[in-house]
Amino acid sequence: MAQVHVSTHPLVQHKLALLRKKDTDSKRFRELVKELAILLAYEATADLEVDPYVVETPLEAAKGFRLKGDIGLVPILRAGLGLVDGVWEMMPSAEVWHIGLFRDERTLRPVEYYNKLPVHPTVDVCLVLDPMLATGGSAIATVDILKRWGANRIKFMGLIAAPEGIKAFTEAHPDVPVYVAAVDDHLNERGYIVPGLGDAGDRQFGTA
Ligand code: PRP
Ligand code: URA
Repeated sequence: MAQVHVSTHPLVQHKLALLRKKDTDSKRFRELVKELAILLAYEATADLEVDPYVVETPLEAAKGFRLKGDIGLVPILRAGLGLVDGVWEMMPSAEVWHIGLFRDERTLRPVEYYNKLPVHPTVDVCLVLDPMLATGGSAIATVDILKRWGANRIKFMGLIAAPEGIKAFTEAHPDVPVYVAAVDDHLNERGYIVPGLGDAGDRQFGTA
């Protein structure tokens, strides 16, 4: 059964509103995406496994924990790139594997253009990163790729989802939990999330 986690954290909601604003410039937009990535990563990683071990403090031995298993961050190009830095700062030993997909503007179907995954999986948990889950096509295709690769534990982390995308994604991949900051109202006729924030890639990279 798919789990959809919509953050109710006040900091997330505060920053998300700033991100949506049409007069938020590209620099500030990138900063907010990074800050939101850190906050959402906290929620998306809450159930990762840890191994206990002993560390020496200046006074005596103390029980500590370290993350168990290798983590892979999988940003969907381009817009997913903006989420990498924040998550990576929290998990500097994570591997980053890029998947390149763009939406065909006419069909709204994802078109794959970059995938350099090695033959066998190198990580235990994949965290797919993309700010927008609109029709869900790009996220579904990415998880399809990761499952064919052999990944057995996958999570999706984004900023804004449409109800249509949530439905399609959770039907296609009921085993993959979704972590987002908001589920908005609907998709418009061009496949944009409403109210959304516009084009996440263009706003990050200044290409509008
Ligand atoms: C955007 C976004 C997602 C996709 C979401 O990317 O970053 O990858 O659209 O839409 P979907 O759920 O309907 O597939 P876009 O194709 O605009 O490419 P970009 O990131 O290179 O701008
Ligand atoms: N991609 C975006 O960047 N924004 C949307 O609203 C939908 C897809």
